[in-house]
Amino acid sequence: MINQRHSAHLLGIKGMDRQTITPFLDLAESYALLSRSRKTPRDVLRGRTLINLFFEDSTRTRTSFEIAGKRLGADVVNMTVATSSVNKGETLLDTAATLNAMRCDLLVVRHAQSGAPALLSQKVEASVVNAGDGMHEHPTQALLDALTIRRHFGRLDNLDIAICGDISHSRVARSNLHLLLTMGSRVRLIGPPTLLPSAFGAMENVSLYHSMDEGLKGADVIMTLRVQRERMGAGLIPSEREYFSLFGLDQRRLTYAKEGALVMHPGPMNRGVELASNVADSPQSVISEQVEMGVAVRMAVLDRLLRMRSPS
Ligand code: NCD
Repeated sequence: MINQRHSAHLLGIKGMDRQTITPFLDLAESYALLSRSRKTPRDVLRGRTLINLFFEDSTRTRTSFEIAGKRLGADVVNMTVATSSVNKGETLLDTAATLNAMRCDLLVVRHAQSGAPALLSQKVEASVVNAGDGMHEHPTQALLDALTIRRHFGRLDNLDIAICGDISHSRVARSNLHLLLTMGSRVRLIGPPTLLPSAFGAMENVSLYHSMDEGLKGADVIMTLRVQRERMGAGLIPSEREYFSLFGLDQRRLTYAKEGALVMHPGPMNRGVELASNVADSPQSVISEQVEMGVAVRMAVLDRLLRMRSPS
């Protein structure tokens, strides 16, 4: 949700409506075109400082925010847990005080704890962007997925979208679910019972499947998810080979979906676990386009959040 006091923050998709989501996608679309022609306006964030504060490993998302900030002229600083004073016992709130004193304008936060970016947003003057908090939300991932889908179908309503795999541990699945339902599509969640909380079945326009063949029938889009081993207790999935044989997306299963259905993955993907290598590299795969749209969406988010700030 976008919280606004003096600063505007992007903390999650839940609570955002269509009118709030669409302008981010529209601006991102134009930043995607400008990026392709290498004509991005460097004055948009000139003189602004963006800090990437990552308490969890990430290469892709951190790099994406870094490129987004730099394409709009911001000064970008990366703080990762290995080098930060968190290791010396500094608390999250002390970190916030330090960042305030540094007069940072935009703070991009990834944290293993759900709610950490929201807590920080109450303590810093900067606009906070949640870059993934625990199993909670990953709003810019959902926006970039939506933009990728919209570019192919020209719309985000009335589509059948299958989200497959480790739903339980996935902030990507949660943010996408909220966004796609809000925009008027239907979502099928497919996964083994151990990784698919039955409570999702109570949501309107959501259906649950424990069989890939069943769940993929007639789908317009297939989103595969990484198996989140680091968040799992033991015994939730059998061997990776067995997981692939039951829930991996291969060429045969792909034929159950609509002809030309899009294949997506937020990365980092495990070839041969969530999806077969030849599916990941097939013409139906838009995985590289997702990465490209990731930069464009983050440019739009950084730009809009600063414009939404009320003068203090
Ligand atoms: C996702 C994440 O970190 O939530 N990855 C990403 O943003 N590049 C998905 C994942 O880790 O599986």
